[in-house]
Amino acid sequence: MSGSIVEAYDGAVSRGRLRSDPAQHELAEILDRLAAEFAQYAPPAGLLSILKPKLRPPRGLYIQGAVGRGKTMLLDLFFNRVAVKHKRRVHFHAFMQEVHAAIFAIRRSLDDRNGDAVITAARDIAARTRLLCFDEFQVNDIADAMILGRLFEALFAAGTVIVLTSNVLPRDLYRHGLNRQAFLPFIRLIEERLDLVALPGSTDYRLERIGGEQVYFCPLGAGADARMQWLWKRLTDTDRGEPLTLSVKGRDFIVPQAARRIARFDFADLCQAAVGPADYLAVAAVFDAVFVERIPALQPAEANAARRFTTLIDTLYDRQIRLAASADTPPEGIFAAGLDTFEFARTVSRLREMISASYWAAGPDRARAAILT
Ligand SMILES: Nc1ncnc2c1ncn2[C@@H]1O[C@H](COP(=O)(O)OP(=O)(O)OP(=O)(O)O)[C@@H](O)[C@H]1O
Ligand SMILES: [Mg+2]
Repeated sequence: MSGSIVEAYDGAVSRGRLRSDPAQHELAEILDRLAAEFAQYAPPAGLLSILKPKLRPPRGLYIQGAVGRGKTMLLDLFFNRVAVKHKRRVHFHAFMQEVHAAIFAIRRSLDDRNGDAVITAARDIAARTRLLCFDEFQVNDIADAMILGRLFEALFAAGTVIVLTSNVLPRDLYRHGLNRQAFLPFIRLIEERLDLVALPGSTDYRLERIGGEQVYFCPLGAGADARMQWLWKRLTDTDRGEPLTLSVKGRDFIVPQAARRIARFDFADLCQAAVGPADYLAVAAVFDAVFVERIPALQPAEANAARRFTTLIDTLYDRQIRLAASADTPPEGIFAAGLDTFEFARTVSRLREMISASYWAAGPDRARAAILT
């Protein structure tokens, strides 16, 4: 893709595909500057690093903003345009799974030469990656929290540039996490090494794009079941799908019904059982659409199910998988009573977008591409 990010952005505004938003425009300018710095920067390699000792990698960015604010859209514009050979855009959950697997493999192969598998893993990643973009950076997992400091330190030291988006400011990351004290050096590190750019305001552009609700049925009951069944039949030409077993990290994960690259689950199968991010990633890799039936209104004590549901929606959304669902309430009511409703707000916003007619009709991938071309 050629042309600057600002040009692409202004073009989409002038064609009426985007509403003009000064904060987004300013971020587009910042991203253009970063792309230009990349054009000047050649990674240290052998002799060159001796001849040009001052060659420093550009500073990365921490892009913060509320849900539906346009962070992913701008990150995608940047990522597609920046001329860096070894660039990678990856969902943070998926990246951390990879890191944990690499650490495990290093420890097992006793290749732990410098005594720190985290650092070895980070160097391996850095050797392959000059630019690493994380969309939706958030830290909930103590296993992630405890290694992020060393991981990022080693990535920065190796000259990998990090650009990430997040709903929260660095100081609010892992806010209620266990052993947070041990996480604070990581916050200091990213405050020091990344430039913070906030998209202030709270316009949720995702909500503005909603067309209809014909793939989300509530309340639960015979009516919702019948409409889900009708939709299923229309999409798959069958009354019942076949069970399918996915192999996830050496375990079996059972999809109760599958047909025509569409999976059908009960909420309980997906979010009220011992199911985790790796299973959701496997589902997102295999299917084009997912049916989730009988989502209850969750009680405050069901935070684990709510968290799983958030991870499920994040994963499906990131992979642009279509969703149909039946639920006891509209999205806003699914975890209305929960403590961490702040974190759940994005799930609600995404769910609203995913159940809109336009998301289903065009597929978000093409919808996004259409906005930007
Ligand atoms: N200025 C704008 N005018 C119209 N639509 C917009 C504008 N900015 C973004 N959008 C659209 O709004 C939707 C949400 O944007 P995006 O996914 O980039 O938000 P986000 O900040 O990444 O949200 P989240 O934190 O939930 O991931 C997308 O469909 C995007 O194309
Ligand atoms: Mg986003």
